[in-house]
Amino acid sequence: MKRISLTQYLVEEQRLHNTIPAELRLLIEVVARSCKTIAHSVGKGALGDVLGALESENVQGEVQKKLDVISNEILLEANEWGGHLAAMASEEMESIHPIPNRYPKGEYMLLFDPLDGSSNIDVNVSIGTIFSVLKAPEGMGQPTEADFMQAGSKQVAAGYAVYGPQTMLVLTTGRGVNCFTLDREMGSWVLTQRDMQIPAKTKEFAINMSNARHWHAPVKRYIDELLAGDSGPRGTNFNMRWVASMVADVHRILNRGGIFMYPADMRDTSMPGKLRLMYEANPMAFIVEQAGGAATDGKQRIMDIEPHKLHQRVPVFLGSRDEVAVVTSYHHE
Ligand code: AHG
Ligand code: MN
Ligand code: MN
Repeated sequence: MKRISLTQYLVEEQRLHNTIPAELRLLIEVVARSCKTIAHSVGKGALGDVLGALESENVQGEVQKKLDVISNEILLEANEWGGHLAAMASEEMESIHPIPNRYPKGEYMLLFDPLDGSSNIDVNVSIGTIFSVLKAPEGMGQPTEADFMQAGSKQVAAGYAVYGPQTMLVLTTGRGVNCFTLDREMGSWVLTQRDMQIPAKTKEFAINMSNARHWHAPVKRYIDELLAGDSGPRGTNFNMRWVASMVADVHRILNRGGIFMYPADMRDTSMPGKLRLMYEANPMAFIVEQAGGAATDGKQRIMDIEPHKLHQRVPVFLGSRDEVAVVTSYHHE
């Protein structure tokens, strides 16, 4: 089998479809290289002294794990000097990170969740990195948070790395979704799945059921109907999976279908759901739509949401098209 590397894929995409200019290619390659470095740390575990928590909390008041901070540093350092970026933003940093003046500035902006699935780090379960790429607004001076306030539909690229039994990179630049597997000996990303497609129908759902008593009526109704199985209104048995790493749950859905949900609930109205629009919902929505799936906040398409703050949270329903349509329609009734 002829092996196609990430670099070759990116160069040929540009040649054939003109969708990946050189600066964007450099950006994607630098992010991919960072993910390799993160994968290396993740793989070391206790031997690399990377497990466990720090004293610090991030801006959302969550305890930071060592690997949250290590991964954030790896991405920042790798992406600062290449000249492809104007600024970065991260789930783990309160404010945006403009490119320091000693380096040239580029026209892209990078957002990331450096380490997704933090609660799984110390128990050796799949975790990941999620990233999203926006264009800097025309004529932008010193970058500000306002420059990042762009709807998900403006993303020019998005992807995630999943650190599991294999390390994989899943990428979209708006022309389908492709998956690369890390060849650990060679240190290279090899194209292993082209044009991933999420089946429109599914019998598998993913939600944290322990929050059931807090759900709003449409979510409660939808899940009750799934749980009722073949004797209920859906007339079929559904299966459930919940990894508690969004990357791992989305990766399963990309491969065999399913619906993933993290709804808002009645506990705290100032916190609409748990997941973050800019670092989690938007990039995953872009990938899922590019694979033929759908992604809504229950009412509207996630990628149509006009963001109002960097760390904004949003309810998420994504995956197989037909199921996302059902649960979204219940929110409209
Ligand atoms: P992060 O580790 O980046 O904070 O994200 C964790 C997210 C997401 O990956 C996962 O789907 C969800 O939190 C799990 O939440 P519960 O612990 O409530 O199940
Ligand atoms: Mn996350
Ligand atoms: Mn995270």
